[in-house]
Amino acid sequence: MAAPCARRGAGAPWALLVLALLASPLAAALKLDIDGQAIVDQLLHLATYSDDPNPAVTRILFTENDMKARGYIKQLMAEAGLTIREDTMGDIYGVLPGANPGAASVSTGSHCDAIPLAGAYDGTLGVVGGIAALRALKEAGFVPAKPLEVVMFTSEEPTRFALSCSGSRAMAGVLDAGYLDSRRDENGTSYLAAATAAGYGAATYGEMLQGARRTPADLAAFVELHIEQGPLLEKEGTQIGIVTAIAAPAALRVSFSGDGGHAGAQLMPWRNDASLAAAELALFVEHAALSAGSWDTVATAGYWDIKPNAVNSVPREAVLEIDVRDIDRERRDGGVGSIREEAAKIAQRRKVRHSVDIINQDPPATSAPAVVAAAAAAVSELGYSSKRMVSRAYHDSLFMAQIAPTAMIFIPCRNGWSHRPDEYASPADIARGVQVLAHTMARLAGDAADAKQEL
Ligand code: GLV
Ligand code: MN
Ligand code: MN
Repeated sequence: MAAPCARRGAGAPWALLVLALLASPLAAALKLDIDGQAIVDQLLHLATYSDDPNPAVTRILFTENDMKARGYIKQLMAEAGLTIREDTMGDIYGVLPGANPGAASVSTGSHCDAIPLAGAYDGTLGVVGGIAALRALKEAGFVPAKPLEVVMFTSEEPTRFALSCSGSRAMAGVLDAGYLDSRRDENGTSYLAAATAAGYGAATYGEMLQGARRTPADLAAFVELHIEQGPLLEKEGTQIGIVTAIAAPAALRVSFSGDGGHAGAQLMPWRNDASLAAAELALFVEHAALSAGSWDTVATAGYWDIKPNAVNSVPREAVLEIDVRDIDRERRDGGVGSIREEAAKIAQRRKVRHSVDIINQDPPATSAPAVVAAAAAAVSELGYSSKRMVSRAYHDSLFMAQIAPTAMIFIPCRNGWSHRPDEYASPADIARGVQVLAHTMARLAGDAADAKQEL
């Protein structure tokens, strides 16, 4: 007797909602045809839209390959019988209408952009797998009470504008127009100009952000399927991870500038080499993470830009982008603060100018008990092994959790590798992940026939 509890309204306590999700007889009886190899074939086709030769995948926001990938995603959505819409930020939706079209949606999705020299599965699994889940539900004759949707979020990766999760930040209403306007790509192009050239955008930043906005009233739940990007599931032989929290990410850009000069003629005592300030700071970043007292603290100086980058020239400009993450927000903020202070000390000692730009400093997210319970019920009806776990990577779920009850489903990936060309997840693990996603969404949306029976 699931649906009556679910229909008691928004005021129903979590416990009742959880009980409702655990029951749902028709959703439990679903037999879905999910072909893991067919999904892999689609992922590998998507991977061909890349700025670097496969197996590496590089796909940067609104470039030619990103636009081709978007075209392929829309083709898959259309073939699955989904209704397509796109918003002003470039997020792409495929919708399977529910029996009650006015109801809040049960949503899934992830991203298709890829950092330089990445692999074929990060993010893409949650989009292509999400389309496969909705397609299988539709083909099994399942009519959801609430609409189901799959979203391809714009630019989860901080590549072109150095900002992560652009689409989901805008949806959640936590992306500031002035801040987005201040971002520029390496050619000086603004986000609005790039979005407009790609056929998205709006007259102003405010209108563009508003065009992507969602509210809690639009969203009954959000659940994202993703490869784990770490080794635990594979090491333990566990088939499914159910994510209970997402670690808090921060990113800063530190720029040092010195006077440069000729590498032969500029004598050592009078140099102020910007790259050496950056090198010292990078060593401090490692030290800050190692001395934080927890394995949950990680910090990386992963982006370097040195100018003029010539063997016979003293480096004049050095820009570092630094990623700091922790489960514990205060400890993460302490790390960010100490990196800022150290940058100032190094600049003073080395007589270089410097500036620090905090790109993002986000809160962690906690999964919603009702969505975790739905995923756990789906796993148990499918007979898979599972564990609850924390996501150390960030995802669009970090921001969707601010406007919708949210959780994530992880599958194992080989050696825990990700953000590498040899990223890999097996067809069998992919099929299991998509099954769990589809069953979870069916539980969260309710079965229209089930609801009618109980009227
Ligand atoms: C996402 O790609 C992350 O860096 O966690
Ligand atoms: Mn990634
Ligand atoms: Mn990802």
